[in-house]
Parts: sequence; structure tokens; C-alpha cells
Amino acid sequence: MNERVKDMHLPFTARLIERHELTEDTSLFRIAPEGAALPQLSRFVPGQFVQISVPGAGEVPISPADLPGEDGTLELCVRRVGHVTELLHQQLPGAPLGIRGPFGNGFPLEEMTGHPVLLLAGGLGIAPLRSLLMHLLRHRDRFGEITLMYGARQPRLMMFREEMAALAARGEMRLYLTVDFAPETNGIQSCAVGLLPDLLKGFRFDAPATYAAVCGPPPLYRCLIADLEQAGVAPGRIMLSLERRMRCGIGRCCHCAIGQKLCCVDGPVLRAGELKDIPEAL
Ligand SMILES: Cc1cc2nc3c(=O)[nH]c(=O)nc-3n(C[C@H](O)[C@H](O)[C@H](O)COP(=O)(O)OP(=O)(O)OC[C@H]3O[C@@H](n4cnc5c(N)ncnc54)[C@H](O)[C@@H]3O)c2cc1C
Ligand code: FES
Repeated sequence: MNERVKDMHLPFTARLIERHELTEDTSLFRIAPEGAALPQLSRFVPGQFVQISVPGAGEVPISPADLPGEDGTLELCVRRVGHVTELLHQQLPGAPLGIRGPFGNGFPLEEMTGHPVLLLAGGLGIAPLRSLLMHLLRHRDRFGEITLMYGARQPRLMMFREEMAALAARGEMRLYLTVDFAPETNGIQSCAVGLLPDLLKGFRFDAPATYAAVCGPPPLYRCLIADLEQAGVAPGRIMLSLERRMRCGIGRCCHCAIGQKLCCVDGPVLRAGELKDIPEAL
């Protein structure tokens, strides 16, 4: 193994600063990468991922939920689903963590410049799209109309709702929220009841000029791609943030293969047009 590849396998140290619960199984972690990790992470492009390790437990790929702060801190929105993510949730402020990356391609920001952008997030899919949204808003004059459509199963599972509503109230973007199911006790003002694709029905936008960014549970992709294409968005402008089980994160182990592509280096952001001949991709 050459030195460069060996370096990419070695995690840098990071410290957990704080954990803020977003829902019953998902928290926002603020972490402080240390030393040589800082210049590397300053090159982060929305849509890329980092490999976060809990010492003695293992490593998981996570897409940062925002651009690194001025002091280099990172926000990670993590759902507790198994061994490593469970142990991550048990860590206390100050705990040492490991971090490698950023890895993967990220969203093609230069190509998207000057265009309207439609972000479609289902459930935890809001995490990687939030970093894209923050980039778009921080460079608001470089992009056309920005629209976020976000669906969750229930109102209490909707993350960043107040933050998104505040951004929309400032007139910087259009926001459409929906929940699959709304128990009567949970007020859901300014939020529809229905599935995420329902929000697209009757939505008027400049489809041929638009770039769409989609992230959510797998069954959502096929449905949204069909609806977006029917509305007139080109398959090459429909960007999907995909997830695969990963090991190395740098194109060496083939754990994350999607047909001939490797999710960790060719993705995780892939275009609908690229996936047409890979039925197992979605
Ligand atoms: C590019 C990328 C970005 C990601 N970003 C985020 C994020 O921002 N926030 C977040 O909470 N999670 C994210 N994930 C998913 C996260 O990496 C997995 O949930 C995590 O690896 C699970 O590890 P674990 O040890 O806790 O669970 P395990 O004990 O390994 O597995 C628990 C369950 O999760 C399933 N699972 C594990 N990994 C994956 C995966 N990659 N895709 C689908 N199912 C999986 C397993 O099949 C099993 O059912 C991302 C994954 C990728 C590939
Ligand atoms: S995770 Fe090893 S090649 Fe992608």
C-alpha cells in the first residue's frame, strides 16, 4: 500500500463537543476535528461524506449536515440504527472520536450556478441536503429560485422545522412540508398531510432549467425520478444522494459497488441519467 493510500485509511482525532436530540432516535452532533483534519475538511463539498469512528467500536459513513464552521467544527445528524451509531449516541462531551475524509464527489455546485434548485428530502435525507441548502443560501445571488420539499412520517419526526421555517420567512427560499400521518394532538400548521411526491403534483416551476437534489429512503427515488422527468427536468440534472454499506471509503474494497460504479468515489451523488442501465442501483 503506498503512503498516500495508507494516510487516507488513518483517522485523525476529533472531539465531541455536544449532542442535541432532534427526534427519539436521531441527534445532531457537533464535533471538533483536530490537527491535520482541519485543512482537509475545509475542502468539504456538500454531498460528500466523512468516516466517523468511535474508538473500539468501528467506523460509519456520515454526510455532514452543514458546511464546517469558521472554527472547523462539523455538524452531523445521526440516526441510531446499530452498533456504532448506538455507541456514538452514548458518548459524552469531550469524548475522543476519529474522522477521515471528506470523501466522494458531492453536488456539482459550479454546474448548478445560475439555475433554480429543487431539494427533495424524505426523513433523514434532510441531513445531506441541509449542507447543500446552507451553501445555496450563503451564496444566494449565484443561484435561481431555491425550493425545499421535505416529508417526514409524523410531525414529531420532522427535523430542523423551525430553522427551515425561519429561512423561508426571510424570503430566501420556498418551503413545502408534508407528513404521512398527523395524530390530532400534534398541530401541523403550514404542513400538508400526504406523501412527498404529492407535493410535486401541480407545483409550477421552470423544470427545464432546474437541478433537483433528492435524498431519502430508497423507495422514494424511483417515484420522484419519474415525476421529475415527467415535469420536464432532464435526467442529467436529477441528482440522487445514495447510500451503500462502506468499508474503506476510498475506492479500494468494492464494498459499495453500484454496477460498475463505486458509491464512495463515483458517488454518493449520482445522476438519474447515469443509473438508467443499473436496475439494482435504486
Ligand atoms: C454516503 C453515506 C452517508 C450517510 N449519511 C448518514 C447521515 O448523515 N446520517 C445517518 O444517520 N446515517 C448516514 N448514513 C448511514 C450510516 O452510515 C449507517 O446508518 C451506519 O453505517 C450504520 O452503522 P451501525 O454500526 O450503527 O449499524 P449496523 O449495526 O452496521 O447496521 C444496522 C442496520 O443498518 C443497516 N445499514 C448499515 N449501514 C447501512 C447503509 N450504508 N445503508 C443502508 N443501510 C445500512 C444494516 O443493514 C442494519 O439493518 C450514511 C451512509 C452513507 C453510505
Ligand atoms: S467503500 Fe471501499 S470501495 Fe467504496
